[in-house]
Amino acid sequence: MDLFEAVKNRRSIRRYKPDPVDDKKIEAILEAGRWAPSWGNSQCWRFIVVRDTKLRAQIADTLKKIKLPDKELPNPAAGAMNTVPVVIVVCARIGKAGAGHGAPGSKPEYVTDKGDWFMFDTALAVQNMVLAAHAQGLGTVIIGAFDAARVEKILDVPEGYRAVTLFPLGVPEHEGKAPPRKELSEIVFKDKFVK
Ligand SMILES: Cc1cc2nc3c(=O)[nH]c(=O)nc-3n(C[C@H](O)[C@H](O)[C@H](O)COP(=O)(O)O)c2cc1C
Repeated sequence: MDLFEAVKNRRSIRRYKPDPVDDKKIEAILEAGRWAPSWGNSQCWRFIVVRDTKLRAQIADTLKKIKLPDKELPNPAAGAMNTVPVVIVVCARIGKAGAGHGAPGSKPEYVTDKGDWFMFDTALAVQNMVLAAHAQGLGTVIIGAFDAARVEKILDVPEGYRAVTLFPLGVPEHEGKAPPRKELSEIVFKDKFVK
């Protein structure tokens, strides 16, 4: 699949068929994540491939509800979690991305005023992975609204690492409708930022 086509046509998929996913496809997705760029090539990401039904159900239970003034709605991705055969949880080692090369054992000194760049680096890996999934006919939906501390406990994520995001991976039951994007004229400036 052409790269631009994959970028434009990938959609968040929230309904899946119960079909299995070929291990080779999962490997190709993980491989795409592995080749993402990262701060100083620090590769802070770690990927947990969760197939166990009970663990997936426990993770699904950590998805945060959307709070409206008069009611709570389930996370729109909640239904997908138990129908897919695989969920990939993306963790990050803290204190590496964005940090200078201090002496061994010294505290990390962040190079910029943004501190730890782990969210940025893991996002690059995740984008590679969701595109690789789409290119192979699989669907994903990136999930950010979940209780990370609970997921870390469920999956034995060690201290020094955080669960950043997770995504179900499966055979889409539908194509997915593209939510509108801002026009380039709204987000691109010439020479200087225009308020
Ligand atoms: C960081 C991040 C967190 C997200 N968290 C959720 C989530 O918790 N639940 C959900 O249903 N979708 C989630 N999404 C999916 C977005 O809603 C979706 O990407 C956006 O509406 C654009 O739609 P598209 O992916 O089909 O282009 C998240 C996306 C990103 C990038």
